[in-house]
Amino acid sequence: MKIGTTHFFVCEVFMTDTTTTVAFPQDRTCPYHPPTGYDPLRAARPLARVTLYDGRRAWLVTGHSAARRLLADQRLSTDRTRDGFPVTAPRLVVPPDRRGAALLGVDDPEHRTQRRMVLPEFTLKRAVALRPEIQRIVDEHLDAMIAQGPPADLVSAFALPVPSMVICALLGVPYADHEFFQEQSRTLLRGPAAADVYRARDRLEEYLGGLIDRKVDEPGTGLLDELVRGPLAEGATDRAELVSLALILLVAGHETTANMISLGTYTLLRHPDRLAELRADPGLLPEAVEELMRTLSIADGLLRLATEDIEIDGQTIRAGEGVVFATSVINRDAAVYPEPDTLDFHRPARHHVAFGFGIHQCLGQNLARAEMEIALGTLIARLPGLRLAAPAEEIPFKPGDTIQGMLELPVAW
Ligand code: HEM
Repeated sequence: MKIGTTHFFVCEVFMTDTTTTVAFPQDRTCPYHPPTGYDPLRAARPLARVTLYDGRRAWLVTGHSAARRLLADQRLSTDRTRDGFPVTAPRLVVPPDRRGAALLGVDDPEHRTQRRMVLPEFTLKRAVALRPEIQRIVDEHLDAMIAQGPPADLVSAFALPVPSMVICALLGVPYADHEFFQEQSRTLLRGPAAADVYRARDRLEEYLGGLIDRKVDEPGTGLLDELVRGPLAEGATDRAELVSLALILLVAGHETTANMISLGTYTLLRHPDRLAELRADPGLLPEAVEELMRTLSIADGLLRLATEDIEIDGQTIRAGEGVVFATSVINRDAAVYPEPDTLDFHRPARHHVAFGFGIHQCLGQNLARAEMEIALGTLIARLPGLRLAAPAEEIPFKPGDTIQGMLELPVAW
């Protein structure tokens, strides 16, 4: 199946058990299930072979235990500037003159130094302290949406602006500029072409560089201000590294959570029994969020390059080979999650790899969990009549080569 084609909507799960090499990534057929084209991979655990868009073959990790061991293995690199790093779409090829991204694009020890610099702002304690502010932002957006609707597009009215405003407040980026940076982040993640991706990155870097320069003259409140006052002033980092850190935090901080809020809402509306259960017992929210993370696995295709030979479960991954983690398949490993295609808020889902695992495990997971709990919990509590305002099969969702989510979500109440 080609990426970016019309999405066929099939939400029942059919399993086949052939073991042929399949193409990766593929578009989902139902926004909350792995692509049906991955069925052969679900039968081939813990490792399979896939073909990438450029004809290159790569290992695809499909088993939960192997995934956690490999994601914790430092012989796998995330440095996208390395020769032979697997690429899942032409627009994601890193030109030779480009520096890689901070955090997710660097290995230890550089990675550890960067992560330590920003970690204090992403602890569980900090996420708890941010809850009243997140609640305020959620209420404000729901008030506005209710005042204007129904119907409304939940993506533009709620799911995108809420996390965007939260990460802006946390970083000290003026939310007034949101149209500019939301547009650039969208292009950065979805293209269409490599030239667009790099132009968007240049624009964001220029914008964030200017912002950091202004903060040097006049520091305010926010993580970027702290980094200017501390590590930058002390010479522990430089402007280029700070810009690169700011960029990944800004982009990762709103696109991902926004997709979880929109796709999570869609999924709940398509599972009325689960929604009713959650409404009756809001104490289930943390488990529901974990189970939605597992089921939806929106970051579906984590990428690594083997820098040495690695023996795993009777197979040898050779140095120089690409390794891809299909989180949607890994998180439906029946050995760990019985009846993996069933949405069940009473199962222990916490060990899913939807936030990754190992040294690159999502830095923002405490914040994201708080945002999802507050956004989904408040939405379903305040709008008991919430429903889709268009036939479910006609609502467009994102193609398989980017973070998964709804392109729009028409709702009424
Ligand atoms: C539900 C929402 C989110 C999902 C599903 C998600 C998913 C992920 C995943 C799968 C990874 C690991 C990627 C890999 O190993 O290749 C990751 C890393 C990361 N995430 Fe998130 N994320 C979310 C929210 C956030 C938020 C709110 C932030 C806030 C800034 C954030 C910042 C980051 C950063 C900086 C990394 C790289 C960490 C490192 O390399 O040390 N994410 N995320």
